[in-house]
Amino acid sequence: MAGEVIGVLCSGRGTNLQSIIDAVASGQIKAPIGVVITDKPGVMALERAGKAGIPAVCIDRKQYGSREEFDRALLGELKKYGVTLVCLAGFMRLLTAGFIRAYEGRILNIHPALLPSFKGAHAHRDVLAYGAKVSGCTIHFVVEDMDAGPIILQAAVPVMEGDDEDSLGARVLVEEHKLYPRAIELFLAGRLTIDGRCVRISE
Ligand code: GRF
Repeated sequence: MAGEVIGVLCSGRGTNLQSIIDAVASGQIKAPIGVVITDKPGVMALERAGKAGIPAVCIDRKQYGSREEFDRALLGELKKYGVTLVCLAGFMRLLTAGFIRAYEGRILNIHPALLPSFKGAHAHRDVLAYGAKVSGCTIHFVVEDMDAGPIILQAAVPVMEGDDEDSLGARVLVEEHKLYPRAIELFLAGRLTIDGRCVRISE
């Protein structure tokens, strides 16, 4: 699609947002970020957007009674800024079916583990508790089931003796910051095709 516009949704510190901002600046990602939206006030992601001159909007989750109402507000903002590709970057909310339908095949997420293992909000803790020797990160299309959509790219890192959530998280994050811009680049180049559970990447 010509004239793509990216919307990034975050809930916190926004280091993945920063990697996307930097990749737009370097020309790796060939579409602008139209808006950054958070569901919490005062988070670092808003500051990062402000510094980069990108419109930053907080839709405070506390102001909304239901997920449906929240998602309607979210959709309204995304449409207002002409967003065609939604990138979840540490966005700690599940999206409703209505939202996902509105951006079918156009919502990406990053998860800090090798899906389908270790879904959910505490991936590093769960990896360590399970005793896995390898972890990593996954970029996938978003479907209604949490962390279950077709996988676009993955990168692996070793789990080291003595790792805690912080040290493992930091090792995974280095890969996240390379992988997300690459996945967005592939999406924008029209090289991703969803084929059932699989994502085909064309030359
Ligand atoms: C990342 O580890 C991402 O994989 C997960 O949430 C974390 C967000 O970190 N979904 P940041 O806000 O991008 O720094």
